[in-house]
Amino acid sequence: MSSAKRSLLPRATGFAHQLLEQNLRPGDHAIDATCGNGHDTAFLCRLVGERGAVIALDLQDAAIAATRAKLASEGLEACLLQGCHSELPSLISPYLPDNGKVEAIMFNLGYLPKGDKSVITEAGTTIRALDQACSLLADFGLLTIAVYTGHDGGVAEGEAVDLWSRGLPQDHFSVISYCFENQRNSPPHLIAVQKKPASA
Ligand SMILES: C[S@@+](CC[C@H](N)C(=O)[O-])C[C@H]1O[C@@H](n2cnc3c(N)ncnc32)[C@H](O)[C@@H]1O
Repeated sequence: MSSAKRSLLPRATGFAHQLLEQNLRPGDHAIDATCGNGHDTAFLCRLVGERGAVIALDLQDAAIAATRAKLASEGLEACLLQGCHSELPSLISPYLPDNGKVEAIMFNLGYLPKGDKSVITEAGTTIRALDQACSLLADFGLLTIAVYTGHDGGVAEGEAVDLWSRGLPQDHFSVISYCFENQRNSPPHLIAVQKKPASA
């Protein structure tokens, strides 16, 4: 009998990490559009390595401080920017590579865990940011969106994101949705979008 370890299906955030691990390479560029406590930013930094670059963004100074501390504790570096992700292009343009494209963009929606739960991502700014994110993706680039519906406003935002994702043109993007169908307490689900190269 094989002794290979078996594993449970990953949570939405874990599945996002698996997809990014398969696609990101050392030297790539990535954006964390909701850096929060810095876990995803640190994850992206580890994947792209010292030759790559990560830009991390959050609305709240508490999140920027938490991400800065997380990176420092692991000896990692990223470009940290405070602002709304609906202003993505103007905030990040000075830090983009020459071709203006990135290989990965992560969104982890909702509120800052252990932070101010009244500050949440909202459908209007989220959809605007997602549209902008799509135009920043390099060929084969991945956009991952972890969607939380358990808090006030979460269902409306989740429905808006699902609808937005289904409307992306098939010729240019592949879109998947990953969710647990039978779990209590509104587990997060994942939308992942990949930019197809022109010839595909
Ligand atoms: C679920 S947390 C992110 C967790 C983070 N990915 C991590 O690894 O710790 C969501 C974050 O989105 C941020 N946020 C809310 N609205 C935003 C906006 N319009 N632009 C940028 N960040 C926003 C919140 O401040 C919060 O820190």
